[in-house]
Amino acid sequence: MDTQKLLYCVLCYFLLSLLSAQQVVRGSLAPHHHHHHHSHRHISKFRPSKLFVFGDSYADTGNTGKAWPSWKYPYGITFPGKPAGRFSDGRVLTDYIAKFVGVRSPIPYRWRKYGIPLLKYGMNFAYGGTGVFQTLYPGPNMTTQIDTFHPLITDNVFTIRDLQSSVALVTLSGNDYAYIASSGGSAPAIQSFILKVVKQLAVNLKRIHGLGVKKVAVTALQPLGCLPRSTAMASFRQCNGTVNLLVNYHNLLLEKAVATLNNETNDSPFLILDLYASFMFVIENKGSRKFENPLKPCCFGISSDYNCGNVDESGAKKYTLCKDPKASFFWDGAHPTQEGWNAVYSALQPTLEHLY
Ligand SMILES: *[C@@H]1O[C@H](CO)[C@@H](O)[C@H](O)[C@H]1NC(C)=O
Ligand SMILES: *[C@@H]1O[C@H](CO)[C@@H](O)[C@H](O)[C@H]1NC(C)=O
Ligand SMILES: *[C@@H]1O[C@H](CO)[C@@H](O)[C@H](O)[C@H]1NC(C)=O
Repeated sequence: MDTQKLLYCVLCYFLLSLLSAQQVVRGSLAPHHHHHHHSHRHISKFRPSKLFVFGDSYADTGNTGKAWPSWKYPYGITFPGKPAGRFSDGRVLTDYIAKFVGVRSPIPYRWRKYGIPLLKYGMNFAYGGTGVFQTLYPGPNMTTQIDTFHPLITDNVFTIRDLQSSVALVTLSGNDYAYIASSGGSAPAIQSFILKVVKQLAVNLKRIHGLGVKKVAVTALQPLGCLPRSTAMASFRQCNGTVNLLVNYHNLLLEKAVATLNNETNDSPFLILDLYASFMFVIENKGSRKFENPLKPCCFGISSDYNCGNVDESGAKKYTLCKDPKASFFWDGAHPTQEGWNAVYSALQPTLEHLY
């Protein structure tokens, strides 16, 4: 082997171990979940072997460019120990769903060339800041993410047979709505826009299933009115009920849309992961994991709620950082901490049992 090749291999190995270091979530799988996996294997023949992920920052594990805050300190301090593109101090929803499915967290599309051996776990196309339509941020909308996936269904990347043993996770966390909120809009205009968003989401879900993916799990909208971004004005003491009403409308329409989609097929392939109920469960401290003030984020901008991770010209932080991210439910203005996602994941368990 010549030196260049050797160097290449060493580099490759290095990147691979970096990437797989991101994937060790499975290690902490609670014993009783193993038990569930076993019992399910006996009952149903469907055994997912891959996870495909579409959506936004709630699911993104490294697709955005390095200019994004998710690539800046203090993002990633808990896991993998440095900024690596996750919008949290550590693991995000994708990592926990992968853990449930029993595969490694799938490789972000952006890093696919460095993770060929990881392709057997699926792929993550989710991109922070995106929605079903154009949002305030650049980045591939969900349609484009699916367009990117489609040509990979070939004989040498993902086969139709692969897809038949696959699960898709689709997150839509409200970036489409940030756009209208900032541009102002009357209540009827907002309502008809919500209808449009859910319609487009349903089109996307149907398309993912149509490509051959066996089960498609989609997130209901989390209580946007409880995000630190919405509660900062109220010193993180209470959720904004007006905002949550609109969220409930979105979720009601989504439920109807998913029921209709399931009714069109005979094996009910679509499943809603109710982030509204699970976030509220944790925020209201009803779970076993309690947070002292669940509404108060760990990392928060001083002049703007988007400033976690930003510094000024002199290098001074434009944000405050809590001592222990494990003690907070929210990480920044919009995203849970790893501990927060872990608590949400626990609350989602009964739903996840329906994945297979
Ligand atoms: C998604 O983005 C593409 C490329 O910018 C655009 O052509 C398309 O219309 C967008 N799709 C939707 C549903 O907005
Ligand atoms: C709740 O959000 C709405 C819509 O953004 C806003 O107009 C209202 O002032 C907020 N209410 C409180 C109490 O912050
Ligand atoms: C399901 O489909 C049947 C027959 O097409 C229809 O009668 C029924 O109302 C549908 N149910 C829902 C929830 O859409």
